[in-house]
Amino acid sequence: MSKRITITAALPYTNGPIHIGHLAGVYVPADIYARYSRLQGNDVAFICGSDEHGVPITIKAKKEGVTPQDVVDKYNAIIKQSFLDFGISFDNYSRTSAKIHHDTASEFFKTLHDKGEFVEEVTEQLYDQDADQFLADRFVVGTCPKCGNEESYGDQCESCGTSHNATDLINPKSAITGATPTLKETKHWFLPLDKHEAFLKEWILKGHKKDWKSNVYGQCKSWIDDGLRPRAVTRDLDWGIPVPVEGGKGKVLYVWFDAPIGYISATKEWAEREGKDWEPYWKNEDTKLLHFIGKDNIVFHCIIFPSMLKAEGSYILPENVPANEFLNLEGSKLSTSKNWAVWLHEFLEEFPEKQDVLRYVLTANAPETKDNDFTWKDFQARNNNELVAIFGNFVNRIAVLTNKYYDGVVPQPNRFKQVDEDVMAALKAYPSVIASSIERYRFREASQEFMNLARLGNKYLADAEPWKVIKADEARVQTVMYVALQIASVLATLSEPLLPFTSNKLKEILKASELEWDWTWDAITEGRELLPSEHKIIEKAPLLFTKIEDKEMQAQLDKLDASKKANESANRALEPQKDTISFEDFAKLDIRVGTIIEAEKMPKAKKLLVLKVDIGIDVRTIVSGIAESFKAEDVIGKRVTVLVNLAPRKLRGVESEGMILMTETPDEQLVFVNPDYNEKITNGLSIS
Ligand code: 2FM
Ligand code: ZN
Repeated sequence: MSKRITITAALPYTNGPIHIGHLAGVYVPADIYARYSRLQGNDVAFICGSDEHGVPITIKAKKEGVTPQDVVDKYNAIIKQSFLDFGISFDNYSRTSAKIHHDTASEFFKTLHDKGEFVEEVTEQLYDQDADQFLADRFVVGTCPKCGNEESYGDQCESCGTSHNATDLINPKSAITGATPTLKETKHWFLPLDKHEAFLKEWILKGHKKDWKSNVYGQCKSWIDDGLRPRAVTRDLDWGIPVPVEGGKGKVLYVWFDAPIGYISATKEWAEREGKDWEPYWKNEDTKLLHFIGKDNIVFHCIIFPSMLKAEGSYILPENVPANEFLNLEGSKLSTSKNWAVWLHEFLEEFPEKQDVLRYVLTANAPETKDNDFTWKDFQARNNNELVAIFGNFVNRIAVLTNKYYDGVVPQPNRFKQVDEDVMAALKAYPSVIASSIERYRFREASQEFMNLARLGNKYLADAEPWKVIKADEARVQTVMYVALQIASVLATLSEPLLPFTSNKLKEILKASELEWDWTWDAITEGRELLPSEHKIIEKAPLLFTKIEDKEMQAQLDKLDASKKANESANRALEPQKDTISFEDFAKLDIRVGTIIEAEKMPKAKKLLVLKVDIGIDVRTIVSGIAESFKAEDVIGKRVTVLVNLAPRKLRGVESEGMILMTETPDEQLVFVNPDYNEKITNGLSIS
């Protein structure tokens, strides 16, 4: 029976692009669910949009010397386009800066305000006197009161996931100026979560929510067991939705108050465009509301937003909140600020035809019950050993053989053997196996079941060996090819939610659009024939997948290595300045420009080059410790800066009569202090 399903995917913050962690955690599973639900004939609203308020955006704008609007415009465009190119099938992708959202969120706040659902309170909040502003959320960093992480943000600790108030932090520091904040009084509106505790207990703990994923249920239980406290839903900031009630001047709605309402405004925007009524999608009890999120968003979607919806009174509550754990990259935590990520828009540029490969790898290795690791080695292996070698290979073989033996026409089958009956029976069972995994939010399992079907096809063909049998038994090969083509059509149908680009490609190979019926999951279950005899498939089938070479993976690893090095050098503690010297001491240095005219490696010394340097007044020998950074032949002819009156000293038996001046770049590369002068001036110019 058709059902109305509202599927939301966490609104991404627009302070950076989308990376694979976001995709694996939220957008790929949500898209699989949405595509699957549509295929079952349900009435689906798949909703998302840019989360354009909040402190991280204003911090980014300050850093880059632009306005917050510039930041959100830039990233909204990048994110929206990359989702589209990646095939995420949102019905609407909106933004929280849209007027419809400002209006909806203001209205929602006013309703709660007028119903007396807020507590207004003047409290002491952290204040940065140097920056002349209140500090909330990510503007303040300090020690987490729960786990001791010294880099916890004011609103949330990324280490233990606890969500707290900025004033709870131990030893808080302003993220703007580094100053220790003072306390200053200010009025805010609080949502009294304590008042909703009984309802939350009933709904989550006693209700049917035990079928929520254990990570989600566990976090909710721990929150409720710890006791809920009122949460401020307004902030002293100038970026956000103005507080729409008296006394709200200079204050905005807390980003976590307005963002989830963004799901509602994005649904309204979509409904207006489509000429539909938005309300049933949020207010009818028979609508299934699902929030796909990452684990750091659990409290907001399971405790705070439901309390807001309940307080408003006319909304339904989510039936499930399938939150995923985190994905790591090559053993380290993904990080936007450290550029430790595989960015979606860059992936799409570098691998323009490989959307489904990334989808498959992120699904097969999804962090559903624990944090998982993405590695390029695994990406390559899953592509080469599963998508190419199993699924792609099967399809390619049948396309080639059908054309070779039958000019591309599906043959008439003859008498079925037991093995053929078994395969046809197995095909009928697959839709419900995969559907059951998807409906239980087990997308890894669904992708593996799907690959098992491709394996079955491959094995069927390998065992039947039509390429050998054709000489002796043409009738048997007709049956084998007929069955194999049915397997291919089932693969094309069931791959739609998991591998949508590939599904389309395979349907084109099999010319599904020329048939008078649709390939539905029900048709497979009922054992209806998808691909009839006499139907003609494509003549020259493109490959579904192509092999990925080692060098492509190495290029990705090199890119990550460059990020790591850049981070290390940014974090490297610079050596403190040495004690000051007098001008008289400095004046004693005789620094001149010279040219290296000979150079050779000092035998048995890793670091030393023996140089002959023309310094104008004479040619002298200088032993320099630069052999690990420069080859002897490369420095001959180089103009260098030389300290010529350094007392001579013997190095490995060779007397060195001066010093070539060198320095280090921020990434620890040794470089010459280059004389910057007209080349015609002779050597020996002294530096003053
Ligand atoms: O964690 C995040 O990226 C948030 N921007 C998610 C918001 S989800 C929703 F409530 F809008
Ligand atoms: Zn913590």
